Amino acid sequence: MMDEELILLNPGPACTSQRVKDALLRGDLCHREPEFTELLARIREGLPRCLNLAGTHEALLVTGSGTAAMEMAVISSVREGRSVLVVNNGVYGERMIKIATAHGIPVHEVRSEWTVPADPEAVRAALAEHDDVDAVVCVHHETTTGLINPIREIGEIVAGTDALFVIDAISGTAIEDQDLAEVAGDVICGTANKGLHGQPGMSFILCGERSLRRITEAPVRSLYLNAASYLQGQRKGDVPFTPAVQVCYALDEAIAEFEESGGFAARTRLYRERAALVRGQFERLGLKVLVDEPYRSNTVTMIHLPDNVTYAALHDELKKRGYVVYAGQGQLSADFFRICTMGEIPWHRLEQLEEALRESIDAARGV
Ligand SMILES: Cc1ncc(COP(=O)(O)O)c(C=O)c1O
Repeated sequence: MMDEELILLNPGPACTSQRVKDALLRGDLCHREPEFTELLARIREGLPRCLNLAGTHEALLVTGSGTAAMEMAVISSVREGRSVLVVNNGVYGERMIKIATAHGIPVHEVRSEWTVPADPEAVRAALAEHDDVDAVVCVHHETTTGLINPIREIGEIVAGTDALFVIDAISGTAIEDQDLAEVAGDVICGTANKGLHGQPGMSFILCGERSLRRITEAPVRSLYLNAASYLQGQRKGDVPFTPAVQVCYALDEAIAEFEESGGFAARTRLYRERAALVRGQFERLGLKVLVDEPYRSNTVTMIHLPDNVTYAALHDELKKRGYVVYAGQGQLSADFFRICTMGEIPWHRLEQLEEALRESIDAARGV
């Protein structure tokens, strides 16, 4: 095993800086104390600011992984007797359907292949066909394959209707070039880890004006994930349930680090540069990428397993060399693996990835 830290090349949890890890040790704090109220206020202001949504979107912070934010967003956006339209081209689109179904919310679906971006015109047609849709839900970056969906174009279509546009931006926020200020997103779901480089365990939804109204009209479908109770509590500096205080400390520090290092423009540039670096390596190594170039995200690359190499063998060889990669999901698990350049990763470790991959592929083949 190498002396240097293991680099996580999976799409979250992502590696974090020492500064963010140290923040976990700021100390014990009761969430009913004024220090927590200040911490919460800083984070609630910081999140929309980092994503260029200050003044248009209000943050609701929840203790739970990204799926908690997705669930809160869906169930708080649909009124009684109304439905959700899910744009589905991957595991996370499917998850939105499972969430709605679990809560008895009727679902319409616009489905496309996992390697094909959603078609905005199909969304327009579905909205014309179904007059009961209260929310259109779309994943920005489908982490399943590393595919980007056209949220700006879909947002323009949804904005002209009564439906809210709910975006699962969990693996896209602060990573992808699309400036969310240019997207008509009513609810945007994100997490503390991934592109913001905080610790996993907290997630959030950013609510625009239309969504803040809708939250109060949707029925209470869950005690824990009822956005209306978070809105009411957080505006008073309170949270309805015991929060992961230490993860909030880390998020607070991650937001400070994000802004000090140049904010949204600098972070997305870093992700673009990393993607170019590693994809150049994949090309030199003859590795084939699943998704066509124009639709690739800035982090996840879905790669065909080289001939005569199993995922398990490749994973283990790369881990010996200091890198954790990730399996393909669902129907793609047998033939593909994923490499994701998310989180705090020293540049030289990404440069060294090429050699590690070359050696690991040879070793996994038994050369
Ligand atoms: C696009 C997307 N949505 C939702 C989730 C779910 O997040 P979590 O695993 O934190 O619940 C993920 C996780 O990777 C994701 O990539």
